[in-house]
Amino acid sequence: MIKKNLGFHIYEVDDLSELGHQEQKLIGLSREMTAKAYAPYSEFFVGAAVLLENDEIITGSNQENGVYPSGLCAERVAVFAASAMFPGVPMKMIAVSATSTRLKMEEPVSPCGACRQVLLEYEILQKKPIKVLLSKEDGKILIIEKVHDLLPLSFSGDELKKNRTRKR
Ligand code: THU
Repeated sequence: MIKKNLGFHIYEVDDLSELGHQEQKLIGLSREMTAKAYAPYSEFFVGAAVLLENDEIITGSNQENGVYPSGLCAERVAVFAASAMFPGVPMKMIAVSATSTRLKMEEPVSPCGACRQVLLEYEILQKKPIKVLLSKEDGKILIIEKVHDLLPLSFSGDELKKNRTRKR
């Protein structure tokens, strides 16, 4: 038996001023976007901002629905919109921020599994890392170099194309 370590690095900064201009702007926008969330059920307001390689910035916020599973996280609202508006343009980074009226948030928001899977597919497709910046309305910011770090041993759509026994 071999024991393997799939660990990754995460960067933590206490203040926005420690980051570059693009990162600061994107985090600022994701924080502003929390105000545009439609989250009457969870009262957990999430904002996301995606910076594309063509310097466009696409934003999103979580959108809920009375039929609970029909809602969508801020990250997917933003990346799906980005891909719909600028298909094929690589995503350089995504900032995600959250705030809540119900609970005191101690830690920056972290993307759910479904959002990690969706982000990863775009990262694989573009063959370039998408940097992930996580925060709450203020304080500590976490930075992850690439989506792959957030979803090790992942399932990729490429698996569906491999070893086909039958051509369609
Ligand atoms: N949510 C996001 O939008 N992004 C995350 O990273 C975590 C969770 C949303 C989904 C739902 O509207 C609310 O937050 C509570 O889960």
